[in-house]
Amino acid sequence: MRSPFFAAAFATASAAATLDWAAAYEKANASLAKLSQNDKISIVTGVGWNKGPCVGNTAPVSSINYPQFCLQDGPLGIRFGSGNNAFVPGIQVASTWDRALMRERGQFMAEETKGCGIHVLLGPVAGPLGKNPAGGRNWEGFGADPYLQGIAMAETIEGMQSVGVQANAKHYLLNEQELNRETISSNIDDRTLHELYLWPFADAVHANVASVMCSYNKINGTWACEHPYALNTLLKKELGFQGYVMTDWNAQHSTVESATSGLDMTMPGTDFNGGSQYWGSKLTQAVSSGQVPQSRLDDMVRRILAAWYLLGQDSGYPAINLKANVQGTHKTNIRATARDGIVLLKNEGNILPLKKPKKLGLVGSAAVANPQGINSCTDQGCNTGALGMGWGSGTASYPYFSAPADAIKARAQTDGTQIGLSASDSTSSFRSAVDGADVAIVFITSDSGEGYITVENHAGDRNNLDPWHNGNDLVKAVAAASENVIVVVHSVGPVILETILAQPNVKAIVWAGLPSQENGNALVDVIYGDTSPSGKLPYTIAKSAADYGTSSVRGANDDFKEGLYVDYRRFDKEGIVPRYEFGFGLSYTNFTYSNIFVDGRPTAGPATGDIIPGGNVDLWETVITVTATITNSGAVRGAEVAQLYISYPESAATPPKQLRGFEKLTLEPGAEDIVAFDIKRRDISIWDTAKQSWVVPSGVFNFTVGASSRDIRLSGTLEVP
Ligand SMILES: *[C@@H]1O[C@H](CO)[C@@H](O)[C@H](O)[C@H]1NC(C)=O
Ligand SMILES: *[C@@H]1O[C@H](CO)[C@@H](O)[C@H](O)[C@H]1NC(C)=O
Ligand SMILES: *[C@@H]1O[C@H](CO)[C@@H](O)[C@H](O)[C@H]1NC(C)=O
Ligand SMILES: *[C@@H]1O[C@H](CO)[C@@H](O)[C@H](O)[C@H]1NC(C)=O
Repeated sequence: MRSPFFAAAFATASAAATLDWAAAYEKANASLAKLSQNDKISIVTGVGWNKGPCVGNTAPVSSINYPQFCLQDGPLGIRFGSGNNAFVPGIQVASTWDRALMRERGQFMAEETKGCGIHVLLGPVAGPLGKNPAGGRNWEGFGADPYLQGIAMAETIEGMQSVGVQANAKHYLLNEQELNRETISSNIDDRTLHELYLWPFADAVHANVASVMCSYNKINGTWACEHPYALNTLLKKELGFQGYVMTDWNAQHSTVESATSGLDMTMPGTDFNGGSQYWGSKLTQAVSSGQVPQSRLDDMVRRILAAWYLLGQDSGYPAINLKANVQGTHKTNIRATARDGIVLLKNEGNILPLKKPKKLGLVGSAAVANPQGINSCTDQGCNTGALGMGWGSGTASYPYFSAPADAIKARAQTDGTQIGLSASDSTSSFRSAVDGADVAIVFITSDSGEGYITVENHAGDRNNLDPWHNGNDLVKAVAAASENVIVVVHSVGPVILETILAQPNVKAIVWAGLPSQENGNALVDVIYGDTSPSGKLPYTIAKSAADYGTSSVRGANDDFKEGLYVDYRRFDKEGIVPRYEFGFGLSYTNFTYSNIFVDGRPTAGPATGDIIPGGNVDLWETVITVTATITNSGAVRGAEVAQLYISYPESAATPPKQLRGFEKLTLEPGAEDIVAFDIKRRDISIWDTAKQSWVVPSGVFNFTVGASSRDIRLSGTLEVP
């Protein structure tokens, strides 16, 4: 039997299927007229840190049946809950490149959120974009490319909001590192801002995201939460954002400037000591003295109420109960995203999938669950035992944890395989575990998180791109003792693998990412060949950390000097050969590509259409369709992520190629299917700083389709006159 909660969730899903801002604004206007000035102030001002059931709360307003409003972390599910799942982090679902799984993840997270009576779940994350490979919170977002980020943002938001939960696109804007995040100024040129960092937020707005969170940092010397150009001009005017802007927690620095710059809600309302408040009575005074126009306060309230009506939260929304049991059967999505996000980097002599080994030797502390308890570290602020997510406010408690050793042991029984286990990173204690084993599997990790917690001397951002816990030495030692070594890496982002690859006995590398609670089960699915690996890297793995050309900045300013040349855009431009390129991933089968067609007649020049959520309406129109045939030419069923990269005419001075489409399809051996990429006007536009508009340059565009950013199989050109 379905619980009443699920019945309610499904009823709302259909109601919310067509989100109508105009209707929501009409209701908001009607309610606004009934509010006192105090009501209005309370709707825009959090009640203060630790003063309510959620991480953010505002007071109820009974005259319009407005509830005690609840905002809760975070991007992978409910923080501080006890009956919910811990979904995979953004970076893992990004490496699936699977739109349906992205959307389902958003929907399932929101069903749990709604079941707990939470109105706003504070995610998804498109900032950081991940320009610094060691950036502490990169794993919360969707990888180092704005197009991939944008698609994942839109799918997640639409999935979440289809259930009636408000999504929150964060952190707006240019929050690329943890070091000095609350003082640093991100200084950036207009074009790079538009083409990289604003891009995924445009997708979020286009998906009708209800709310946006402004970030801690400054932009060109002005705080992001009181930056009139970022909030009023870019977000509300250029992108046509209809919802409301809230601060990151305690990211507000002024009463008047923040109000007049476009901020709509302050969170949590006081500083973390429960003191110092910028709005509340101070905003009341600022309005009565005329420093903040009454119309601005009304606009804040109207936006917040409109979002609430937009999602249908004014009727039948459950009461707040963070302890509700809301897991349902959602772990199916966690297993699928954990599994399909696994990237096979190396597989010499087809050592994988495993072929009924007589003995398997498992080595490394990350083979087993944290011996102190799977939720023993506050906000997952430790890297002890198997790794499932990074640390910080964007985490959740695990309801259970499938550890690699446990899942492999269970599976090994069916083959009668003997298991040796050395759950230690010591280079001297694994001998008996790998003695006589056909294959040794070494588990290594790299972790990062939010800067308020320091783990093993990493203060949020990683100190380097090496494996933790002497992972290189451990692999070296095992590779000296075993001829067949498989290295499984659980990591928040790129790790330099050169030492590991220099060991001839390392036959395979399984990039298992951040699989959350389904860590072991997902790994077993892949290494035993129940599923062919189908993940692709959402960032570049370099041969050397210096190759990225970007890292956390120590001073007060980050000048974004690399401009557009981030991740593969830089490697392509500078001719730097990566170890494993953006978009790379092996399979147990082979795919061939054939028959590219490029069709369309786009016109050169600026976008001119009306502003809809997301920007000029014509930016979102499909102007070119590219199709290609993909054939599974190998021996087993598998899924391929076909990727479309565009090279612009030289006059456009863009990176050599940029991702502008991807499609994942599952094929039986011998089967073929057609992939179709819909290219929107924005996908072939550049930001023209003089015209202050997106412009399609004239000239020859090259459309390339391939299995990665460097494994290009097909190309076709189209000239825009
Ligand atoms: C809501 O009120 C504002 C301010 O009076 C007005 O500009 C707007 O058109 C109204 N919106 C709707 C949908 O009624
Ligand atoms: C920051 O300053 C640069 C250089 O003056 C300018 O081009 C850019 O538009 C500014 N960006 C923002 C977001 O204010
Ligand atoms: C894929 O193709 C390569 C070269 O064409 C071949 O060596 C390999 O065995 C094939 N793999 C599979 C799984 O069919
Ligand atoms: C298009 O790209 C492909 C693959 O990079 C390249 O081989 C081809 O020469 C390019 N065509 C043009 C017209 O630039």
